[in-house]
Amino acid sequence: MKESLIRKSVQVMSGYVPGEQPSDRHIVKLNTNENPYPPSPRIFRAIRKYDADKLRLYPNPVSMNLRCKIAKFHGCKIENVFAGNGSDEILALCTRAFVEDSGSIGYFNPSYSLYPVLAEIRNVQKKPVELGVNFEWRMPREYKASLFFLTNPNAPTSMLYPKEEVRKFCVLFKGVVLIDEAYVDFSKEHCMDLALQFSNTLVMRTLSKSYSLAGLRVGYVVGAKQMIEALFKIKDSYNLDAFSQVIAFEALSDIKYMKSNVSKIRGTRVRLAKALRNLGYMVYPSETNFLWVRPSGISAEQLFEQLKKKKIFVRYFKGPRTGNYVRITLGTDREVDKLLEAVSKIV
Ligand SMILES: Cc1ncc(COP(=O)(O)O)c(C=O)c1O
Repeated sequence: MKESLIRKSVQVMSGYVPGEQPSDRHIVKLNTNENPYPPSPRIFRAIRKYDADKLRLYPNPVSMNLRCKIAKFHGCKIENVFAGNGSDEILALCTRAFVEDSGSIGYFNPSYSLYPVLAEIRNVQKKPVELGVNFEWRMPREYKASLFFLTNPNAPTSMLYPKEEVRKFCVLFKGVVLIDEAYVDFSKEHCMDLALQFSNTLVMRTLSKSYSLAGLRVGYVVGAKQMIEALFKIKDSYNLDAFSQVIAFEALSDIKYMKSNVSKIRGTRVRLAKALRNLGYMVYPSETNFLWVRPSGISAEQLFEQLKKKKIFVRYFKGPRTGNYVRITLGTDREVDKLLEAVSKIV
């Protein structure tokens, strides 16, 4: 294809690089923050019972039953809820709904590596805000952008920002703040109330992590009616397929099961952090389902490569802020034991 057929901004951008999804089932996969435990038994039952004949028909275009469920869960109205094909879809829709062509997109650095890519797709200005030396919160002052993606707890650094600071930021910031709570079920605190309190604040959740449904692709966002309506105007006609709507409904009907998995993962978090610290590694205080780790006696990149040779996949992000760290997803006890055994041999 001739290069000139492609938009200039698309020619120069590199695109998002997701974590590897190897087909080998014998690897220890701790690289993409998936949940190591299966989804709720209700979901297995719902899949067995699912009537494939229903797939002849288009799905409900506004995911009505699912949004009702979400609204009840958060004590808000249906008009305050939008459901998307993974939270990634919602992020992309926000860049189209809330950012003029002359506008800009802000986010902390380091944070979710999709945000700058979304700005590049829209060909709008990127306005990253550097986190502190230890990846701590930094209030952006005298700062302007059309839309700010605020991941809390943050990824890949795993840490939770102080809620009062987040609240102040939502008050001070003139554009739309989207608080990306992809990992919040693993955390001690959330900001959902801010979405229902402030007209410029959205709070987004996903079923990919705590509900063990990364393969399903369902996320949702809560916020002021005006902003939710804007997302509905620009979404694909049937952005959430019929099957996903049913399965997501079932997942949200079994919060107890989700919480029991979260509790196991939190236990693993304490155990793995302690074991790595005993090896001299620096482990940041995590409120997520992964650890942000600075190895000792070996570079982060070497550790990543050597673990990979042993079929243990963790995530490594090159770059000045992130290049000395690896991000390790919390797996099952067995997976974590294998990781620890490999790490102690490598050191
Ligand atoms: C901070 C953050 N937001 C959003 C997502 C995307 O989630 P989803 O699977 O709902 O698209 C991820 C996935 O890793 C993430 O880390």
